[in-house]
Amino acid sequence: MQSRPRSILFVCLGNICRSPLAEGILKAKAAIHRLPWTIDSAGTGSWHVGSKPDSRSIAAAASRGIDIRSIRGRQITEADLERFDHVLVMDSQNYQDVKSLARPEHHHKIGLVMNFAVPGRNINVPDPYWNDDGFDQVYDMLDEACEAIIRDLAPDFHS
Ligand code: 4NP
Repeated sequence: MQSRPRSILFVCLGNICRSPLAEGILKAKAAIHRLPWTIDSAGTGSWHVGSKPDSRSIAAAASRGIDIRSIRGRQITEADLERFDHVLVMDSQNYQDVKSLARPEHHHKIGLVMNFAVPGRNINVPDPYWNDDGFDQVYDMLDEACEAIIRDLAPDFHS
């Protein structure tokens, strides 16, 4: 049975560390399960528009067999809130920033990504930009979240 198409946008601050990892991880899982989902990422800030992901995110993904080198940084727009079913943010600052951009009727689409894995706990995915050791931990958190997203949003999926 085919599930209905979903569209998911991951959002962090720079769109070079956390959200491109989430995009790459969920795209790989969606491909394995043949889910025809639209998956993208964006940043709340504009510093890294047009940039490749951070080399440390590229390396963390590559060590698990995922290639995120073709992703380019972009800044979230109000149109993204219209277009995507789910706008999944990494931390409470992203949540506030996206919420202030969104019209009230779109607020229900915005959520912390880790609430899929650990419901109701509002766990932040830490910003690894200033912390060389943080990338593998971020990868593991996002892998857990993406596994839960597949489980929750593809109800006909049985592992
Ligand atoms: P991200 O990490 O939000 O996970 O992409 C950051 C990347 C860049 C900056 C901050 C966080 N920055 O300040 O340039």
